[in-house]
Amino acid sequence: MLLATRPDLIAEYRRIRKRSVDLCAPLCAEDWRAQTMPDVSPPWWNLGHTSWFFARNVLAEFDAESRELATFAGFDYALNSYYEGLGPRLPRTARGRVAQPTTGDILRYRQTVDRDMANLLARDDGEDWPRLCERVTIGLQHEQQHQELLLSEILHIRWSAPPELRVPYRETATTVTTEPAPPMRFVRVAGGLTEIGADNDTFAWDNERPRHRAFVAAFELADRLVTCGEWLAFMADGGYTDPLLWLSNGWTTVTTGAWRAPMYWEERDGGWCQWTLRGVQPVEPAAPVCHVSFYEADAFARWAGARLPTEHEWEQATNEHGFDVDDGNLLDDDALRTLPARGPKSTLAQMAGDVWEWTNSHYEPYPGYRAYDGALSEYNGKFMDNQRVLRGGSLATPRDHARASYRNFWPADTRFQFTGLRLAR
Ligand code: AVJ
Ligand code: FE
Repeated sequence: MLLATRPDLIAEYRRIRKRSVDLCAPLCAEDWRAQTMPDVSPPWWNLGHTSWFFARNVLAEFDAESRELATFAGFDYALNSYYEGLGPRLPRTARGRVAQPTTGDILRYRQTVDRDMANLLARDDGEDWPRLCERVTIGLQHEQQHQELLLSEILHIRWSAPPELRVPYRETATTVTTEPAPPMRFVRVAGGLTEIGADNDTFAWDNERPRHRAFVAAFELADRLVTCGEWLAFMADGGYTDPLLWLSNGWTTVTTGAWRAPMYWEERDGGWCQWTLRGVQPVEPAAPVCHVSFYEADAFARWAGARLPTEHEWEQATNEHGFDVDDGNLLDDDALRTLPARGPKSTLAQMAGDVWEWTNSHYEPYPGYRAYDGALSEYNGKFMDNQRVLRGGSLATPRDHARASYRNFWPADTRFQFTGLRLAR
């Protein structure tokens, strides 16, 4: 990994940690405590957990925990997410049922961690700097993952009230176009014996390594994401009611859940609307479809006479045609919703941002995968089971968190994240 200088890392720490708190500025006291479904952690937990991550995986590792921090008894129990190696924890589903730690406790805890971190980063560690720098960077990348989770959770919390009482996260008006997107075109990817995964010069999670050779046969990838307009055509053509389009588990999911549109879509006066971070918006035909599960993406691709790309194909497309985060609609752009592909565009539009793109690949270790040492070995590796890989980043991903080798992963029935699709053939 490229080593940051001490002043740069201190500045990064301040900037990234502040953003999590800033994202919570529009919340009211009640929002902070709500767990509106098991997968949705309350905002207090999110801000506490990311601080706890620094306390356990950085401060404790470098003997830098203040006595004050050590007196926050019970925080270890409340804020440990899933680390068996770090002791017992509050069950995930109970996060919305406790009144302690209070939101005030959490904000004070956060400040204490930040002060201890500032002291640690100011300490002259000489030879320990590379190790400290790596640990802090992992903590900051973790914080950024939780910024995206936080927004997806706030979206759900604000949606869970009856329609008459719903309050958007952001009130300002937006323009919604009615034109369909320009026709989808397919771009050739030559493939061959290629290299997949992150090199050693930049930050990447353990699951993006090692970089390794893989054979990718020539294929074609759509030059943009699948749009809401195209999704409406799929719905109108009986996409949600034809079992022959669905994987068996997908059909069970769609019938059990009585799904007939993406999550957050609702029919109003004969037209389709969508709950977004900016409140109820008419479904925009040219904008990418969002909040669809892998099962829906897979059924759509079959209906369209195409398929989903594998994660290797997706990454090889970026090897050949580029991956430019400046092209993408990401958190920094503050759109807070999906946007029609912007022209003039590169060969492949929207590879970064808007929605995470479901791939057909199961989330598995790359050949020669080595998990982090110690407690962090649980970070990614133990989830390599029954999940699918998503690529590219979304409207809620910080720009400096998106990269071509990034492997996001969720179970196939997940819809509350900012997820969509791009076709391959
Ligand atoms: C990669 C988004 C599935 O939400 O569990 C957060 C990210 N890892 N804390 C998740 C993560 C540890 C992870 N996802
Ligand atoms: Fe986490």
